[in-house]
Amino acid sequence: MRQSGNCSALFSRAMPAAPDTTVTIVLATGNRDKVREIRPLLENISPLFKVTTLKELGAEVDIEETEQTLEGNALLKARAIFSILSEQFPAMIALADDTGLEVDALQGAPGVYSARFAPTPDGNTPTYQENVRHLLHSMKGIVDRNARFRTVIALKGSIPSGDKQFEFEHTAEGVVSGSITLEQQGTGGFGYDPVFLVHSTAKTYAEMSIVEKNTLSHRALAIQKAIADLKTLLEPGFTPLTCTHSPQ
Ligand code: IMP
Repeated sequence: MRQSGNCSALFSRAMPAAPDTTVTIVLATGNRDKVREIRPLLENISPLFKVTTLKELGAEVDIEETEQTLEGNALLKARAIFSILSEQFPAMIALADDTGLEVDALQGAPGVYSARFAPTPDGNTPTYQENVRHLLHSMKGIVDRNARFRTVIALKGSIPSGDKQFEFEHTAEGVVSGSITLEQQGTGGFGYDPVFLVHSTAKTYAEMSIVEKNTLSHRALAIQKAIADLKTLLEPGFTPLTCTHSPQ
């Protein structure tokens, strides 16, 4: 076990100095909104990486999030997709994201249950709008509106080097502080974006373009860390990983 800051990595063996072949990064999510944000953060990292999605691979699977932590769910998704697809690729990394909105006045809720916050009559997963309205309703009259978005990115990979195959798991976290607005502001983004005001910008995520959100978001920070960690793990001798934010 190796620890670095909020990140942890588990290795079956030591990592290689450099993979010998193109590494396919599979985005282990069926959420189109997440794909839209994550993809530009990963593209152009290195010519050795190729980014693809479950949809492009014809492997749209629904993985139930049964863990009680973001890290547990992110690992669950990365492991599930890795086990389904890794035989197709000589070198592959499954990359999963689990995200939660933590509101201080709600004792950290909705947190890991952010996707299923609003009650629905049929027990189905609520829409983004139902969750947002339920959040605003739950916070009616509450003065302390501090909150944070937390993303955990999990990587599960297998990379050949020489005559060996190296397997690894790794997680990285990104956190952004903000507050819950009194009403929805902005039309961009997804999920709770219209009610999450980022302290450092005085704008909600929904008032930002994807490019701007990707320069500072919880998800971008987590991916940036995951990529930096991956770079460290694969060095020396590996093509440097450079792109951590969307180019302007
Ligand atoms: P998941 O469990 O990681 O798929 O995400 C839980 C829920 O959090 C999603 O259904 C969205 O409503 C919300 N969410 C995730 N990421 C974001 C984001 O970047 N902005 C706003 N809401 C988000």
